[in-house]
Order: sequence, then C-alpha cells, then structure tokens
Amino acid sequence: MQAIRLKSNSWLPALAMAAALLFLAGCRQDMQNQPKLIPQRGSAMFADHRGARPQVVNTVARGQLREDSYFYTGVVQGANGYREEKDLMPFPVTLAVLQRGQERFNIYCTPCHSRVGNGLGAIVQRGYKPAANFHDQVRLSQPISHYFYVMTHGYGAMPDYSAQLTPVDRWAVAAYIRALQLSQAATESDIPAGVKVKDLKDLAAEQHLPAGFAEPWELPSTAIQAYPHDAVQGTPAMAPANPADPGIKIPLSKPAEPAAK
Ligand code: HEC
Repeated sequence: MQAIRLKSNSWLPALAMAAALLFLAGCRQDMQNQPKLIPQRGSAMFADHRGARPQVVNTVARGQLREDSYFYTGVVQGANGYREEKDLMPFPVTLAVLQRGQERFNIYCTPCHSRVGNGLGAIVQRGYKPAANFHDQVRLSQPISHYFYVMTHGYGAMPDYSAQLTPVDRWAVAAYIRALQLSQAATESDIPAGVKVKDLKDLAAEQHLPAGFAEPWELPSTAIQAYPHDAVQGTPAMAPANPADPGIKIPLSKPAEPAAK
C-alpha cells in the first residue's frame, strides 16, 4: 500500500490534518442541525405548510396593543368618516423632545431639506427633486401630524422614514420642524418680554460672514437640476381619503404620554 511506503516522518502532517477534520466536523453538531423553521420557507409540520405562522385570530402580542392610534398613525377618524390629520402633539413638547427632534432631523432630513428646512439640501443641489420648503405657506399651514404622516409613509419623491425613526422620534422631528418654522418667521410678540433677540444680519456681520448669509439662500448656480420644480408633481398634501374602518376605535391621545423613550 502507498501509505506504508511513505517515509516515517511524512505521515505526521496527514494525521494532524485528519484530526483537525474530525475536530471541525464536530463543530457542526450544534444548534444548526436541530429542526427549526426558516423564514419564508415551508414546513411539513403544519397543515397549511407555511413556516411563517399567521397571528392567532383576535389576539394582540404583548407590547403591541397600539391603543393610542393617533400616536402611531397621526390620523383620527374625522366627522365625515374619513381619516383626518390634526394639529396636535400626542405628548407634551419639552426641550429634551426638541433636542432629540433636532438631532434626528439633522441626521435624516437635512440631506434633502437642509438644516434650515428650505428644501435645498446637498442632495437637491446634486439633482434630486427639490424637497419641500418648510417655510412656504403650504407647509406652514399643514397640521403637525401631517409631518408625522409624511415621515411614516413617504411623499411623492420622498422615501418614508418609518424604519429609521420610531413613532416617538417622528413626533419629535415634527415638533422640531415647528421650531424651525418659528425660527424663520418669529415676530416680536413671540418673544417673552425682557428677552433681547439679536438680528441675524448683525450676528453675521459680527462673525465676519458675508451679508448674504442672513438672506434666504437659492440653489447655487453650480447645482445640477434633474427635476425642474413642478408644483403639480407629488401626491396630494393630505392624508389619503380612505374611509376609516368604523370598527376601529380611535381614541384621542392621552395628553400626558411620556416623551422620553
Ligand atoms: C432623499 C431626500 C429627502 C429626505 C432625506 C427627506 N425628504 Fe422630505 N421631501 C423630499 C422631497 C423631494 C419632497 C417633495 C416631494 C414631491 O413633491 O414629490 C419632500 C417633501 C416633504 C414634506 C412635504 C409634504 C407636503 O405635504 O408637501 C415634508 C413635511 C417632508 N418632506 C418632511 C421630511 C422629514 C421630516 C424628513 C426627515 C425625516 C425628510 N422629509 C427627509 C425629499 C426628502
């Protein structure tokens, strides 16, 4: 036999390899080999051969009883039986809520809407469809839950952010949009008595910034515009007018919903 004719020291590596193989094979004898359901695959165990099991009828999983549906959907059932948006925060807005909203807004919304919310973010300057300007009359007059709704479902060319932002974060961002709007359109009467507010132009001058810094900015001439702005594009500005399911009870939100996660 071939192996017997090998020199005495040459079978050592072969033996080591065989031992290693045995050892590695042993590694497979673990939980990977036990019977289990693999997502999106069939199973012989159930009569309908579906591995993914449907929810048991008339049950709600722990922690998924979304009783406060306004908090989760941003819509209520209107008087006409249709879904309706509301200018109402489902929990009190504190400084912490606004700071969280600012942080999330700066991460997820500024690429298109820009830090001041004028809709001319960096991506728009490189050819994306102009995002909404939060300071125009249309956006100013929308109820706050509309922003929540848009983040949840997307809007026209805008993708939805429901995977990135939890409901409480979406509300925090909506509240921050209101703060942004106030920051660009506040009047003397919005300022508490005795508080001194500096003019943005003076601030810019103090910091040796160009005078135009305090002006609303336009798209730079270097911007590529794949989509000339078209007011008729996009979807209608309200929640879809689906008749609400009369079986769904939509209680108005509890006013003292805790804001912190
Ligand atoms: C990838 C770019 C992009 C990002 C990121 C983005 N948006 Fe938009 N957004 C758009 C565009 C584009 C429109 C205009 C949609 C259209 O007209 O098709 C829009 C429109 C809107 C509108 C106006 C809807 C209306 O009724 O007029 C709101 C509100 C809005 N976005 C909020 C947000 C918020 C909040 C975020 C962050 C969570 C965000 N957007 C992130 C691109 C974006």
